[in-house]
Amino acid sequence: MRIPLIAGNWKMNGSLALIEDFGNAFSRTSFLSSAIDIAVIPPFPYLANADEAFEGTPVQIGAQTLYGEASGAFTGAVSASMLKEFGVHYVLVGHSERRTLFKEDDAAILAQARAAIDEGIVPILCVGETLEERDENRFDDVVLGQLDAVMNGLSEEQRRQLVVAYEPVWAIGTGRTATPEQAQEVHASLRARLRHYDENLADNMRLLYGGSMKPANAQELLSQADIDGGLIGGASLKPDDFIAICHAAG
Ligand code: PGA
Repeated sequence: MRIPLIAGNWKMNGSLALIEDFGNAFSRTSFLSSAIDIAVIPPFPYLANADEAFEGTPVQIGAQTLYGEASGAFTGAVSASMLKEFGVHYVLVGHSERRTLFKEDDAAILAQARAAIDEGIVPILCVGETLEERDENRFDDVVLGQLDAVMNGLSEEQRRQLVVAYEPVWAIGTGRTATPEQAQEVHASLRARLRHYDENLADNMRLLYGGSMKPANAQELLSQADIDGGLIGGASLKPDDFIAICHAAG
C-alpha cells in the first residue's frame, strides 16, 4: 500500500521564526502515526533548526536541491552527504523553477537523483508541462519524457527509492489548480508508464500532485485513485493550512 506523502516546499521563503511556529504547531497536533508521511522542505540554512524543531513530531525534513557530485570545487553547491549529515530525508529534483531559472537539464537531474539515492535520501522527481505544451496536447509526451530521462538512468533497485511529483507548470503559484480529472489523467499515464519498467514498482511508487494545492481543494485531488499525496508551495507557509492538507490526506 502506498502511504500518502504531503511535502511542503517553502522555496526561498521562511525564517527561523517560521520554523519555530511550525515546530510548535506540529507538536500540538496529533496524527495517526503511520497513516501519512509529512515533509517540510525549507531553504538550506534552516535545515538544522528544522530537524531540531520537528523532533518528536511525524515531520521529516527535505532539501530543495542538491548537486550531483560528491565533493569538490563547485562553489555554492551542496552534496547529498552534507544533506544526510543534517538529517535530510527527501530532496526535490527537477522542480520546474530549477529547470527554467537555473537551467538544470535531464542529465543534471539524473545525476542529482543518483547522488541522493546513494546517500539514502529519497528524491522527489518533479515533472510537468507548460501551458503551451498543454494547449498543444503534448503534456503526456513531456511528462513521460521527463520521467523516462531519470528512470532509464537508474538501476531497478535505485528506481524503487523514487517519488514522483506531477506539477503542471501553469498551476504552480498561479492559484489555477489542475482539476482532479486533469491531474488523475496524467497520474494514470505516469503509472501506466511505470508498468513498462516493473509492475510492482508501478503499484508501489508514490505519485504526488503539486500546483496550487490548498485546504479547499486538497481532499478532492487526494481522493483520486493515482494521487498519493501533494507537493505544496504557497499553502505550506501557513501552519494551519499545511496541517489541514495533511489531515485531508490522512
Ligand atoms: P504552489 O507550488 O503550491 O505554490 O503552486 C507548488 C510547487 O512549486 O511545488
